[in-house]
Amino acid sequence: MEAYDLLVIGAGPGGYVAAIRAAQLGMRVGVVEKEKALGGTCLRVGCIPSKALLETTERLYEAKKGLIGAKVEGLTLDLPALMAHKDRVVQANTQGIDFLFRKNGIARHQGTARFLSDRKVLVEETGEELSARFILIATGSAPLLPPWAEVDFERVVTSTEALSFPEVPERLIVVGGGVIGLELGVVWHRLGAKVTVLEYLDRILPPMDAELSRAAERVFRKEGLEIRTRVRVQAVRPEGKGARVELEGGEVLEADRVLLAVGRRPYTDGLGLENAGLATDERGRIPVDEHLRTRMPHIYAIGDVVRGPMLAHKASEEGIAAVEHMVRGFGHVDYLAIPSVVYTHPEVAGVGYTEEELKEKGIPYKVGKFPYSASGRARAMGETEGFVKVLAHAQTDRILGVHGIGARVGDVLAEAALALFFKASAEDVGRAPHAHPSLSEILKEAALGAWERPIHL
Ligand code: NAI
Repeated sequence: MEAYDLLVIGAGPGGYVAAIRAAQLGMRVGVVEKEKALGGTCLRVGCIPSKALLETTERLYEAKKGLIGAKVEGLTLDLPALMAHKDRVVQANTQGIDFLFRKNGIARHQGTARFLSDRKVLVEETGEELSARFILIATGSAPLLPPWAEVDFERVVTSTEALSFPEVPERLIVVGGGVIGLELGVVWHRLGAKVTVLEYLDRILPPMDAELSRAAERVFRKEGLEIRTRVRVQAVRPEGKGARVELEGGEVLEADRVLLAVGRRPYTDGLGLENAGLATDERGRIPVDEHLRTRMPHIYAIGDVVRGPMLAHKASEEGIAAVEHMVRGFGHVDYLAIPSVVYTHPEVAGVGYTEEELKEKGIPYKVGKFPYSASGRARAMGETEGFVKVLAHAQTDRILGVHGIGARVGDVLAEAALALFFKASAEDVGRAPHAHPSLSEILKEAALGAWERPIHL
């Protein structure tokens, strides 16, 4: 029986980052991961492959539309080559984690972990029994498969299959106007599919600032995506060579493929939590305290399997905080400073409170807004669509939230996350020098707008 200081279950961006940090802090670390490749959903079938497709299809789409100052003729799509690029990117990333594990002396156990007790974990496939002083659960999430959907993973699919369609579907229906639905909907739209997004609520990207949702809806519609809000999908099933979607009210839609993107669920299947004296809440999450400890103080849980947004970087921050709490007695995640980015084109991004949240909390705020169309760099790029909005406290000027839509706005908002993390005021960001001509000036001007007034508007 192996005795580790820390046993991590799951090697996604939560678990693998925690394992590396723990090793850096001198812990003897073992990791159990059921997949052959390390990196979890994010690296294998999530963030990384979807970005490989988004980046490349964006260039293809631009070229098709006509580049500024150039005409491209005879452009054809090589889907197998595009998929091969995506697979190579995934391989380079997952192998990178293998390298980091070896470099940090982290032991790897391939197989499915099941608790035998609160101190002992069995690796099902190999029969190894592992024990450790601390255990970290980082098992992530899986696509939510609602009972009204018959998923055959071919005609009715999840995000995993939608990363690898063998051909461009003529008609693709996406159920759910959230992050996955839009990112993957945009990829296949750019490749030539007729894409319809069906969203139950009155706006797409519901947790985001409502002004962004509305702006995003307008832009995606202009690009040719069909977006229908306030439609409730009641049934989805494969039929013939395609699939059939039934809406509340009796309308029936048909498509070659249907992507189900109605959320993800915390993944604890087969983990035997009950053997460790643990249970999940009504939404399948493992309850944790502010230090990410479960009710067993030596068992921690992080990432998609606990409360909070299902984001890779949130899981990584929690992994580091959990491990530092084990070793040093303290660890902290600043949840308000966790940015959220939708990697479509234009990107949609936000960090901190939305306007709706500030109103609900009764926090007085002021708004500074600057459009891409007033930025010299954005004009030079031909990217005049979008804006950045800074929300600051009405009395103290402290930045409470920053939201934006526009080219590379996810990168522009990195600074906004830092501003929130450092508890900066709008004046701080507005006075800080920014390179000219760069897109970052849009944030500076929006901050100036929240403080007193922008220069270029
Ligand atoms: P989501 O929760 O973002 O969106 C699901 C959408 O489906 C919601 O808008 C919901 O109202 C809608 N919906 C639910 N039932 C419906 C029905 N019967 N008919 C029509 N619409 C219905 O979930 P999604 O997009 O599946 O993503 C899962 C998780 O993965 C999210 O937490 C997201 O944050 C994360 N993710 C993050 C990415 C990023 O940060 N760039 C990329 C992809 C996923």
